[in-house]
Amino acid sequence: MGSIEAPASAENGSIPATCAINGDQRYAPASDGVPPRPSYPAGMTPETDALRKRRSSILPLEVGTRVLCRWRDGKYHPVKVIERRKMHAGGPNDYEYYVHYTEFNRRLDEWVKLEQLDLDSVEAVVDEKVEDKVTSLKMTRHQKRKIDETHVEGHEELDAASLREHEEFTKVKNIATIELGRYEIETWYFSPFPPEYNDSLKLYFCEFCLNFMKRKEQLQRHMRKCDLKHPPGDEIYRSGTLSMFEVDGKKNKVYGQNLCYLAKLFLDHKTLYYDVDLFLFYVLCECDDRGCHMVGYFSKEKHSEESYNLACILTLPPYQRKGYGKFLIAFSYELSKKEGKVGTPERPLSDLGLLSYRGYWTRVLLDILKKHKGNISIKELSDMTAIKAEDILATLQSLELIQYRKGQHVICADPKVLDRHLKAAGRGGLEVDVSKLIWTPYKEQG
Ligand code: ACO
Ligand code: ZN
Repeated sequence: MGSIEAPASAENGSIPATCAINGDQRYAPASDGVPPRPSYPAGMTPETDALRKRRSSILPLEVGTRVLCRWRDGKYHPVKVIERRKMHAGGPNDYEYYVHYTEFNRRLDEWVKLEQLDLDSVEAVVDEKVEDKVTSLKMTRHQKRKIDETHVEGHEELDAASLREHEEFTKVKNIATIELGRYEIETWYFSPFPPEYNDSLKLYFCEFCLNFMKRKEQLQRHMRKCDLKHPPGDEIYRSGTLSMFEVDGKKNKVYGQNLCYLAKLFLDHKTLYYDVDLFLFYVLCECDDRGCHMVGYFSKEKHSEESYNLACILTLPPYQRKGYGKFLIAFSYELSKKEGKVGTPERPLSDLGLLSYRGYWTRVLLDILKKHKGNISIKELSDMTAIKAEDILATLQSLELIQYRKGQHVICADPKVLDRHLKAAGRGGLEVDVSKLIWTPYKEQG
C-alpha cells in the first residue's frame, strides 16, 4: 500500500503494519533455528553436478512442499507451497510458487520465484520419500496439515471441514492491488468478484459509489459522470473533517455489494456478499473540498438474535493504526447505548480485530474502575458501556482482575495494577463526540 504519488515502500505498507504485531510470539518470524542462507544473484548459484541432479529430482516442487523462502526482510522463513503456475515462455521446470509463510497470517501469502526458495531445505522432505518411510511421511504431513488447519488465528470457531473448504476455495489471492481514490493498495485476501474480473490483477474503484473497473480509462470515464461525492445514505455524524454515513443495504444494494467485495479483500473469513438487505453500513469518511473519502466502515445487522452490534469492521490499510478502528468500535457501542441494548462483535474475530477489541474493552472498563468508588458489578459495567457481560468477564479475567470468592466473581481493582494495564492498552484513539451523533435506531418501514 502507498499513495500513488509515493509508491509502496516497506516503511509505509500494510505489511510492516502486520509486522508490528511481532511483539506477539504467534506472529514473530522465528529467526531462531533458521540460519540465514547464502543468497546468490539469479542464475549465479555455483552449480555442481550433484546439485543439478538433486534440483531436477525435486523440481518442479509439489504443492504441499515445505521449504524455506527468502521474505522481503531478506531472511529465510518456513513456507508451504499452496499453488504453482508455469511461467510464460519458461522451461519445463520454470514455475512460480504461491506460498504461505507458516508463521504469518495468510494476508502475507504471495507468489515467489524459484530463486527465493532454498532448495537445500526441501531435502528433508524429499529424503523421507525413501520407500520404507512413506507411511511416516504421510503421517507427518497429515499431522502438520491438521495443526495448520486447527490453529489458523481468527478461525477458532470454524470446524476443520469448513476451514478446509474455506481455505481451498480462497487459497490464492485473485486481485493483487486496487486503486481507490488517492491510494494504490495491496490486497490481503481472496474476494469473490464476478467471474469476468478473474483475469485482472488490479481493479480500479470509484471511491464514492465503489463501482469497480478493470481499466484506468474506464474509471476516468466513470469519474467524469459519477455524481456522488460521499457514500449514499444519511450523514448521521459530523465532527471536524470526520463524517459517518448510514447506508441501508436494502435501499443501496449495489453500493452494499461493492463495499462487501472491497472489504473481503482485507477480511479473511467473512461470507457476506449478496445478502446486503439485512444490513446497515456505517461508512466513516474524511471530508475535504473534493468530497468525503472512505476511511473504513462497519456493518451491522438490522436485527440480531445474538445481540451482535457489529458484523464486519475494516479500516482501509492506508488509514490503519491512526485510531480509526477504535473510533468505529466506540461508535458501534454508542449506537447500542442509544438502542438501550448491549452488543458484541460477530465472531470469529481476526487477529487485528481481537487486538483492537481487547484494547478498547480494556481502556473503557479500566477507566471506569479507576474512577469508581466502592463496589461495582459486571452487570453495572455492562449497563454503563453497552459491552456484553461475557466480554467484560473475559477481558477482566485475561487481565487477572477477577477472583472467584464464595461462589461469586469479584473484581479486584488495585489502582497501581489498573494503571499498568491501562498503559499497556495504549492510546485511546479518536473520540466519538456523542453530541454530534444524530441518529434513531433502525425501524422497518411500511
Ligand atoms: N499491529 C499491532 N497492533 C495493532 C495492529 C497491528 N498491525 N493493528 C491494530 N493494532 C492494535 C493496536 O493495539 C492498536 O492501537 P495502537 O495503535 O494505539 O497501538 C489497536 O489495535 C487499534 O488501532 P486503531 O488505529 O484504532 O485501528 P485500525 O484503524 O488500524 O483498525 C482494524 C483496526 C479495523 C482491525 C484493522 O486492522 C483492519 O481493518 N483489519 C483488517 C480487517 C479486520 O481484520 N477486521 C476485523 C475482523 S473481525 C470482525 O469484523 C468482527
Ligand atoms: Zn462512482
